[in-house]
Amino acid sequence: MTDVVREAKHVEAATRWWRDAVIYQVYVRSFADGNGDGVGDLLGARSRLAYLAELGVDAVWLTPFYTSPMADFGYDVADYRDVDPIFGTLADARALIDDAHGHGMKIITDVVPNHTSDHHAWFVAALRAGPGSPERERYIFRPGRGEDGDLPPNDWESVFGGPAWTRVAGGEWYLHLFAPEQPDLNWDNPEVHAEFEAILRFWLDIGVDGFRVDVAHGMVKAAGLPDIGSPGQVEMLGTAVLPYFDQDGVHEIHRAWRRVLDSYDGERIGVAEAWAPSQERLARYVRPDELHQAFNFHFLKTPWDAEMLRRVIDESLATVVPVGAPTTWVLSNHDVRRHVTRYGDGETGLRRARAAALLMLALPGSAYVYQGEELGLPEVLDLPEEVCQDPQRLRAPGDGRDGCRVPIPWAHSEPPFGFSPPGIEATWLPVPATWGPLSVESQLGDPDSTLSLYRAALRVRREHPALGDGTLTWRDSPSGTLVFTRDGFACTVNTTGEPVELPRPGELLVASAAVTAEGEVIRLAPDSAAWWSLADA
Ligand code: GLC
Repeated sequence: MTDVVREAKHVEAATRWWRDAVIYQVYVRSFADGNGDGVGDLLGARSRLAYLAELGVDAVWLTPFYTSPMADFGYDVADYRDVDPIFGTLADARALIDDAHGHGMKIITDVVPNHTSDHHAWFVAALRAGPGSPERERYIFRPGRGEDGDLPPNDWESVFGGPAWTRVAGGEWYLHLFAPEQPDLNWDNPEVHAEFEAILRFWLDIGVDGFRVDVAHGMVKAAGLPDIGSPGQVEMLGTAVLPYFDQDGVHEIHRAWRRVLDSYDGERIGVAEAWAPSQERLARYVRPDELHQAFNFHFLKTPWDAEMLRRVIDESLATVVPVGAPTTWVLSNHDVRRHVTRYGDGETGLRRARAAALLMLALPGSAYVYQGEELGLPEVLDLPEEVCQDPQRLRAPGDGRDGCRVPIPWAHSEPPFGFSPPGIEATWLPVPATWGPLSVESQLGDPDSTLSLYRAALRVRREHPALGDGTLTWRDSPSGTLVFTRDGFACTVNTTGEPVELPRPGELLVASAAVTAEGEVIRLAPDSAAWWSLADA
């Protein structure tokens, strides 16, 4: 790459960094334990920033570390302006943000606006104040149905299972789309708007570069809270507009937040966690005056199949073009089964996951990497029931998120493999005894490891002018494969279980599995991907 191109990439990165940033998700509780209590914390995360900088990511998203009774591991916030003692102090948060900036990485924090914790001062006051009070107006309290008001006010179900309503002393019910410990806020109340804008400013003033907006499709509920009329609403998530999700009114909130973000220097961003029923509806969250990014869960949900992947990639790219936004690719996070396991688990799952990483990182737009995916970690499927703690699992057994939240193995010793300081064995979820070879330390020295693959891919992505923001062109290729080019660059993917021969596209840059070449013909291994520099570039 010439100096001019490199310089141009720097300018681009400085001005529109989020359009093609690779953002690493730190699930703080499971990333690194700095103080030796078996739970990850800010001190631990700070001590691993050099690792993330060397991995080559542009930004780090930290899951909630605010004061919380941890009914949903921090997604139940009791004080949005302070740090929970489990995770450290406000000074630790400031130090982490400053250090990340020192490493040239941005920091994105989570904001949870759909609900608070039931320990939040507002909810405590609402319970105390009683029906009809201004304190109750900050939440969604209603009288029940039935003769004695002992039936919930409507038929809405909680995402975690069971009715979305809980009755309180005095007879009223309150709405909670998630756990009962997460009462929904009333976004018809201007006080709620003002409070959240002040919370955003609090963290922007400290120096965060943006927010991941939790349940960004929630907040606004259809007027009159109408019944849905059918059970199994959790299964309907993502296929229908429900009266409590993806309501049009929610976009006004994102517009107001965009104005707050834009009033700060340095392009501070908002990324929507929005489970919208279609790509078109998802694109509405990233209109020019709304948030900057929205996780592309349609891509995440697509099976390892070339035709289906191509369709979802095309749809994803086409729907954001009219609004001028980038696509935001994601394969895993703290709420879903890790993609190694989704794609078949074991060796097959890992092969596909490695190939999927190269596919994702070659696509136009921004990409998120969930901690541990760069190590090829699988979902831990055999956690003993008694150690599982996710509220979703407790209410709907067999459907928990603990298996993707197991602590990260850092060193090849014995469990917990350097997650906690030496001498600490008990971690909040146990690390499988077999994970030594998956640890960072084991993989760093191995050029064929998944960690080495991610590091190599991220280096090429940073340096190659074709990668990041932009467009792609599909090339004809045999069934079960994908081939696309981008300005002097080609990506080849084989999603089949058989080797596939293709004409050699150019010089090999990175491959998820060995590529053999005979003259001008290359042979792609089953379930593999490769990046090429085009000969005529
Ligand atoms: C989001 C979070 C998830 C949490 C839920 C409720 O989906 O990612 O972890 O349980 O919101 O806040």
